[in-house]
Amino acid sequence: MSSFVKISSKITKFNKRLSIEGDKSLSIRWALLSSQSFKKSRASNLLLSEDVMSTLDCLKKLGVKIKISKNFCEIIGLGLNGFKYKDNLILNAGNSGTLGRLILGLLVHSKKKIKLKGDKSLSKRDFVRVIKPLEKFGAKFYSNYGKLPIKIQGTNYTKPIKYFENKGSAQCKSAVMFAALNTLGETIIKAKKSRDHSELLFKHLKLPIKIIKKNKYDFIKVKGMHNIPALNYKIPSDISSAAFFIVLTALTKNSSLKIKNVNINPSRMGVFYILKLMGIKIVKLNIKNYKGERIADLFIKSTNKIKPINCPIKFNSSAIDEFLLIFLVAAKAKGVSYFKNLSELNQKESPRLKWGSKILNKIGIKNIVTGNSIKIFGNPNLEIDKKITIKSFLKDHRVFMTSVIAALSFGGKWQIFDKDSINTSFPSFLNKVDYLGAKID
Ligand code: S3P
Repeated sequence: MSSFVKISSKITKFNKRLSIEGDKSLSIRWALLSSQSFKKSRASNLLLSEDVMSTLDCLKKLGVKIKISKNFCEIIGLGLNGFKYKDNLILNAGNSGTLGRLILGLLVHSKKKIKLKGDKSLSKRDFVRVIKPLEKFGAKFYSNYGKLPIKIQGTNYTKPIKYFENKGSAQCKSAVMFAALNTLGETIIKAKKSRDHSELLFKHLKLPIKIIKKNKYDFIKVKGMHNIPALNYKIPSDISSAAFFIVLTALTKNSSLKIKNVNINPSRMGVFYILKLMGIKIVKLNIKNYKGERIADLFIKSTNKIKPINCPIKFNSSAIDEFLLIFLVAAKAKGVSYFKNLSELNQKESPRLKWGSKILNKIGIKNIVTGNSIKIFGNPNLEIDKKITIKSFLKDHRVFMTSVIAALSFGGKWQIFDKDSINTSFPSFLNKVDYLGAKID
């Protein structure tokens, strides 16, 4: 039985303030890094979504002590290379690519065998990208063409490695950085630009990391070490979750929204800059620094003149999780928009370039996908007056939530399946939609 929502009217104007749940990338990294310290680490505003709960479950199975209460989560780790578990342990990463890939970085030195599995969507995703560099540390991986389930047997052989990360994958980069902490010597990474939360956390913890930023690549050097300090952290709100409401506001006449305490790390801000180039009225207020990250309130107003965009590829990595939403904005633009080099979009929970195109077709927006690029023929008068059904067979949370935003922005009679998928990243999504006044069955 699949859960669904029915939406048959657009949302009417709203002028509100909203708070959004904690950042998923930071929540998972906080838990994994805290597990490597002997000290007690505490996080508040940790995202309590399925991806993060899977992270905590995996760590508990590895012997880590975790306490969750209403306001915070505490972890007492086992130190570097300190996991305690029985041979042939099975870990389940659920739907989370971030957990699945990053945790392998922590396991390259764990001698007893572990099997890592995931759900249907994660089992279709590419793990060769992370197995290849991690094998260089000496760990052994057994899998069927680099897909989950994967068996890993770690090693005591602790030589550092050299690694060129050329896909712009923060997950691969971070997995190698995590593994490097546990070596004797210095691992050198040349990485295409991608989100840099791991680097900022390493710096905040004063771990031995050096970063040289060049135009297209970052050079990251991580030295092995012995003790990680406690990581006490207040997780800021997730820009990728905020983006649903940024776009809903932009597309809803006479509306405005203030979203508090959003993580505005530049390596995540592609959506902000792309939307600004398209004429969306959005500003940052009260900018603050927090333990290496940047946080601000975002203020958004609806826009009646949306400009098309020839999207600079330099924004691809920093907007990678927001393209489905950006395509909706392009659907309402006056003119043709182009988005190029989006191969990584088809590597997500479902093939999202295909899904972006499918949603546009369903709402009657002409679009042409050529290879890894999409051309979208916007219609500023877009109004939908027909029945639309959305069922993403891999239950992609972002396909579900983007479809809800399309229904509330453009009208029509929608039935959108896989409502439960929101629990992956944004469990309160529908409550927020309700708070803004939308009618959903
Ligand atoms: C993430 C990195 C990105 C992103 C994912 C979260 C992370 O994936 O799409 O949602 O937390 O490191 P890739 O590293 O595969 O690009």
